[in-house]
Amino acid sequence: MTLPVFVDVDTGVDDAMALVYLFASREAEVVGIASTAGNVGVQQVCENNLGLLELCKVGDVPVSKGSEQPISTPLRTAEDTHGPEGMGYARLPRTDRQLTPYDAAEAWVRAARAHPGELVAVAAGPLTNLALALREEPALPKLLRRLVIMGGAFDYRGNTTPVAEWNISVDPEAAAEVFAVWGSAWGLAPPKHVPIVLGLNLTENIAMTPALLSRLAAEAESSSLPMSVLDDRGTRSVASNPLIAVLEDAMRFYFEFHFDQNEGYLAHLHDPLAAAVALDPDLVACRATTVDVELTGTLTKGMTIADWSNRWGREANALIGVGVNPELFFDRFVTRVGAFAKRLYS
Ligand code: RIB
Ligand code: CA
Repeated sequence: MTLPVFVDVDTGVDDAMALVYLFASREAEVVGIASTAGNVGVQQVCENNLGLLELCKVGDVPVSKGSEQPISTPLRTAEDTHGPEGMGYARLPRTDRQLTPYDAAEAWVRAARAHPGELVAVAAGPLTNLALALREEPALPKLLRRLVIMGGAFDYRGNTTPVAEWNISVDPEAAAEVFAVWGSAWGLAPPKHVPIVLGLNLTENIAMTPALLSRLAAEAESSSLPMSVLDDRGTRSVASNPLIAVLEDAMRFYFEFHFDQNEGYLAHLHDPLAAAVALDPDLVACRATTVDVELTGTLTKGMTIADWSNRWGREANALIGVGVNPELFFDRFVTRVGAFAKRLYS
């Protein structure tokens, strides 16, 4: 039986890898993609999502355009991290595919109503359009089977400010609204209905490396050259498989960014982990707690706080990811995406 999956992304490099993982997973049926402004502007996110559908030869999946701006914080984007068009050095194929006539918030609501109690959702960008969807349909929490959010940093440093993670930092007001709704929605007690929240404390354990990327090319039976930090910047992939070539060109930019951040020639796959957990929550260990978002701190705006000791006396509204086996994740990622790339282009 397939799982209907709805994905909200600010397609950038790791968002793209997450979408490919879902397309490659036979148990997943992607029923909708919401394009959220974040890593790049929302129109570019839309074009990336449509181009990925074309590259992966996916059938008619509705792609919707989200808000141009966060709820109240002016948009900031991250071309330094994901490249000028959000796909690193990769170029996606042109496509005639069109966006839906309705926006991303309505797309959330339509997908949830079409699959009541069955829809598995992944939020891998700022929570702008999820918050707008909750305003449109307050019953959304009861319509979702599962929600996985990639966002926040729990007892861990930020990647955007010293204490804030990107997805939350871009739209902290939206994140606060989302967590507040799940805290108050009809006593939805853990573990069934509260979102699984994967912060940097967990996702930074998932580090793609040139060696793992070579394993992926081999799994796809694609030619490929091993990448190295010694390569000229922007060296293009020579992979024979077009999907592998796009992933390599995207990842090289992301490797270079992480290297320049003194994190090594590697790349954290935040969103692919969220996608894999959406299909199989047993991939991570979680702890239930109450989460809220700092909105007024001069130095701490966008910080996610987990009330592990229940100082606030509020109901738990999240399952925070606290443990993961990276090898297990990568075995699954390489096996699925490699076989998918081979099926598509061999
Ligand atoms: O902080 C990591 C998150 O921010 C990921 O979702 C990445 O794609 C960016 O959106
Ligand atoms: Ca993202």
